[in-house]
Amino acid sequence: MILDVISLKSFPLFNLLYSMTHLIRILLVKALLAHALWAGNFSTIQMKPFGNDQDGREATLYTLKNENGMTAEITNYGGIVTRLFAPDRNGHFEDIVLGYNTIDEYLEATPYFGALIGRVGNRIADGKFSLNGEDYSLVTNNAPGGIPCHLHGGTRGFDKVLWDAKAYIENNESKLKLKYTSVDGEEGYPGTLEVTVTYTLTNANELKIEYHAVTDKATPVNLTNHSYFNLRGEGNGDILDHIVTLNADNMTPVDAGLIPTGEITPVAGTPFDFTQPTAIGDRVDADDEQIAYGGGYDHNWVLNKRGQGMTLAATVYEPESGRYMEVLTEEPGVQFYVGNFLDGTNVGKKGIAYQKRTGFCLETQHYPDSINQPNFPSIVLEPGEVYETTTIYKFTAR
Ligand code: GLA
Repeated sequence: MILDVISLKSFPLFNLLYSMTHLIRILLVKALLAHALWAGNFSTIQMKPFGNDQDGREATLYTLKNENGMTAEITNYGGIVTRLFAPDRNGHFEDIVLGYNTIDEYLEATPYFGALIGRVGNRIADGKFSLNGEDYSLVTNNAPGGIPCHLHGGTRGFDKVLWDAKAYIENNESKLKLKYTSVDGEEGYPGTLEVTVTYTLTNANELKIEYHAVTDKATPVNLTNHSYFNLRGEGNGDILDHIVTLNADNMTPVDAGLIPTGEITPVAGTPFDFTQPTAIGDRVDADDEQIAYGGGYDHNWVLNKRGQGMTLAATVYEPESGRYMEVLTEEPGVQFYVGNFLDGTNVGKKGIAYQKRTGFCLETQHYPDSINQPNFPSIVLEPGEVYETTTIYKFTAR
């Protein structure tokens, strides 16, 4: 006898089985969803107000989360990475960047915590340069060794402006695209520069920063990010035990004003040799003229590059937590600064004052004062050209 579905469904036992499998299916889908959410298997983005900037314009704080549960908090004020939670070897997340809880603290005083730096990152000797027969004079807002220079884009660099922001998820990765138009003459620089910086928190636990800029007049451009890391967690003491390698056989030595002399010299046999894993504290106070000028490490290393493309610039290992950071970049140099100027006046997110050397920066970049140094790779962007460069901070634990 052949039974059709209708007649089959009229059997009470079949009915029961049918509704049970249906129920199990629903429960299963729900459980899978709950598991995915619980395990953080989706990238998400949250937004909240972050207070007003110096012009009374409202800034936003974006929380980017990846599918492993790693989070980055970034504000469109200065493009500042305010928090970055990375797992230790036991999967315990800790905020590993220095910074503040509120925009007001950033407005009051910051040694560039977490910020985007431009139009020209690092120093320009005496704030002066010539380009296409024109002399430019920029503000001198820094004076190491009592010698004035222009630092990190001037009085109101890209770290102190409000960027237009768009947060979105693409291929299950959370992204924050920031845009800023730096008008002709801003901070004394020539040409209107249209800048886009895209932060991506990848599912490989990387904070990827893609920089893009175009200009309508020749202008120097050198963009970077000024995050201070402490892989043991911000506020958890100094960074002297962090073990660093720098993929650099050479550096650019500086004068007393931290301006490169123009030479490119080998690091071998000096406290600047990080070609083998070495603790920051081992030689940071070595009896060395360059160390004395920087009050520790505050120098540009010339990366060993193989052609164009990404180079592994640095690795940093923190033995207690097991956190391991890799820095990859397309840039030719990296400023390794170990927080020598931190002196306890900046009180961080945990209410702990950041003392000397409680954070370090790896600012990928073109070399300092490149605009005045003919033998350094050029930082001049011409109209019609596209400035494009990527840096990745990747976090694992071992
Ligand atoms: C850069 C410079 C340092 C210092 C910090 C900010 O890393 O190289 O000398 O100015 O920024 O304090």
